[in-house]
Amino acid sequence: MPMDSQPPLRQVTVDGVVFDWSYQFLTPEAIEAFAAKRLPENFNEQRAALMNGTFVNISENRTVSHVLSRGDQSVLRDGHDARFVRIVKKLRSGNWLGATGKPITDVVNIGVGGSDLGPLMTSFALREFASDIQQHHLNTHFVSSMDGGQLYAVLPIVNPETTVFIIASKSFGTLDTFANVDTVKVWMNEHFKRVGKTEQDWLEHHVIGVSATPKKMTEYGIPPAHQLTFDQSVGGRFSMWSAIGLAIATTCGVEVFRRLQEGARLMDEHFASAPVTENIPMLMALCGVYNREERNINNLAVLPYDGRFRHMPSYLQQLDMESNGKQCTATGEKIDYPTGPLIWGGFGPNGQHAFFQHLHQGYDSFAADFLLVLHRAAKRFLPEVQESLADQQELSVANCLAHRKLMAYGSDDGTARNYYPGNNPNNLIALKELTPESFGAIIAAYEHKVFTQGLIWGLNSFDQPGVELGKKIAEKTLDAIQGRSSESFDPSTDALIQSCQIGVR
Ligand code: F6P
Repeated sequence: MPMDSQPPLRQVTVDGVVFDWSYQFLTPEAIEAFAAKRLPENFNEQRAALMNGTFVNISENRTVSHVLSRGDQSVLRDGHDARFVRIVKKLRSGNWLGATGKPITDVVNIGVGGSDLGPLMTSFALREFASDIQQHHLNTHFVSSMDGGQLYAVLPIVNPETTVFIIASKSFGTLDTFANVDTVKVWMNEHFKRVGKTEQDWLEHHVIGVSATPKKMTEYGIPPAHQLTFDQSVGGRFSMWSAIGLAIATTCGVEVFRRLQEGARLMDEHFASAPVTENIPMLMALCGVYNREERNINNLAVLPYDGRFRHMPSYLQQLDMESNGKQCTATGEKIDYPTGPLIWGGFGPNGQHAFFQHLHQGYDSFAADFLLVLHRAAKRFLPEVQESLADQQELSVANCLAHRKLMAYGSDDGTARNYYPGNNPNNLIALKELTPESFGAIIAAYEHKVFTQGLIWGLNSFDQPGVELGKKIAEKTLDAIQGRSSESFDPSTDALIQSCQIGVR
């Protein structure tokens, strides 16, 4: 059944976030019926348990507490961990001095997955809200990939004497992160030896640890005053609200971090109380399940039309795919129905000149989430420039709305060349203005969408057993590459291992 060609307006507005689901197949009546059919009977209890931190991640035998980390257990709450605020203020004011007495100018966050993507996305999106009265300029850099590619770019532009490295790792043991940390250690030692400082000297001034495993931070040599902790019950991909968000706060300030948490908290309240046809996360979840199950759409394109949201597709990939890309129920039974879709996407305006051709006229169906900011104040610019930037904002809105409509409704003038099949459902998430609150609200909405879909599909959205086997095989492969074993894998792998061994070391 194609979409209704003149769909009635369906919008829910919550604290500056306009969620438009007019271009979905389901009507409000159909959503109610679908919710009655697909939501588990105990949905309300499970949702309440998520909100009060008693929901249980069965396979890891721990509760789930990311919602509390932006509420009662926030690092910004008095008495919880004033250390977070102290560290941020000291760095942002220029009062944090390195081992040779120079103020810190650069912060490098080393982490991967949830210890990288949320801080990276949010620091990038909210950078312009960093308070203008900040006298001391602090640059932020992110290093995640095990290949060292990002270190190649960052190390030459930072000064060891004025750089702090945040080692962000819930487990404080992730191989990728420690591959980068090891290289940084060699680089720092090499420099500080020349200026008469020991490893412990620079460790005390240039490293902050963020982890749910404080013992390992201590073993590593990080002084307790530079350790920030969070609870094991905060899942990695849900952790940007916790101490893992340190790089957000060092980039944008404590006040922006507080406002971000506040926006998320308002979305929590909305999710906990709004009726299903006015509940943004539940509408996202139910339309998504319907598209997956009834329309066989196996993917969701995340298409932000604002450069500040550039890192959102990668963040949502982890949030959704690591949570719900599973074929096993929370209680261990094999699943024979489709679960979480593939999440992909990219910056919309650039996508128009890259992959939109396929979306408009290619063979595959897709669902999409368009993200848009309706107004952007450009206060820092002269009036003429402000006007020109406002025109650009309108240009972006126009393009987003046009492509969104064409993808949903298609076009057909009777020629094959000009046939646009359409029928691809989408949501539009529009912010009246980007603020830390509205940004926090969108991210919390996605978290709750993932949670709701996980419950519908009977999954445990809070573990990730699937990423383990690949890591184990990689360890064996590394043993072979570095000559610790002579294991043979398959002709292709063996040949590549050999080529690697004849490298340039
Ligand atoms: O990809 C597996 C994973 O465990 C993610 O869930 C997590 O966000 C990432 O690795 C990093 O883990 P950690 O913060 O413990 O270094």
